[in-house]
Amino acid sequence: MSTSLGSALAGRHVLVTAGPTYEDLDPVRFLGNRSSGRMGFALAAAARAAGARVTLVAGPVVLPTPAGVERHDVRSAARMHRAVMDALPADLYIGAAAVADFTPATVAGHKIKKRPGGDGLVLELVRTRDILADVAAHPRRPALVVGFAAETRELQANALAKLRDKRLDLVCGNLVGGADGGFESADNTLEVYWAGGHRRLGPAPKTTVATELVALLAARLAAIPGHD
Ligand code: CTP
Repeated sequence: MSTSLGSALAGRHVLVTAGPTYEDLDPVRFLGNRSSGRMGFALAAAARAAGARVTLVAGPVVLPTPAGVERHDVRSAARMHRAVMDALPADLYIGAAAVADFTPATVAGHKIKKRPGGDGLVLELVRTRDILADVAAHPRRPALVVGFAAETRELQANALAKLRDKRLDLVCGNLVGGADGGFESADNTLEVYWAGGHRRLGPAPKTTVATELVALLAARLAAIPGHD
């Protein structure tokens, strides 16, 4: 299916997060994840192609900035939280980043050394702030708040729980860790859920899925009273 975006998002501000976050343990080590950032970058490019002003907050990735998109590079979940809050207000928020849920309680000032004769190392981790939930609860809440649910099982139940618990307008579920797309793949399948609705996008290249998702989001935004 080919989708033409035209100027479906002209006059809108779209805020997208993409990629992983890195949580530093010491000056040379960090906790990260396998997100490539490709889905979020494809969404930013598709939103721009639809005529939106686009702000992209990106974790550490090796991807070129889509043309016409304003990009802010961050490393940690805390910095991504700050960059997102600074970029509000927006009409549409898409939280495509794989934000760390936990970060080390302290960052060692020097490289952590193994002790002679010592055995394991126990790391103390603390929760990060949930950027998506904070955007959804923000006084300047975007009209549409969209989250991702990367799951290894029970996709529908987990995605619907996120829709409800984080007070989202839409959630895009995708199975990760399998053969049919996900974090490191160029292809993806999204199961998009909203209150009373569901649509499957893909399997297809992430750029195609992104175009179809942006078309769906533009239509839903236009249907919100006062946002046409
Ligand atoms: N997210 C966020 N800030 C966090 C953690 C997650 O904004 N600190 C957002 C992600 O950008 C994504 C959504 O929340 O849009 C889902 O993240 P995910 O890690 O799949 O799920 P969690 O909410 O962390 O729940 P669980 O660990 O139970 O899977």
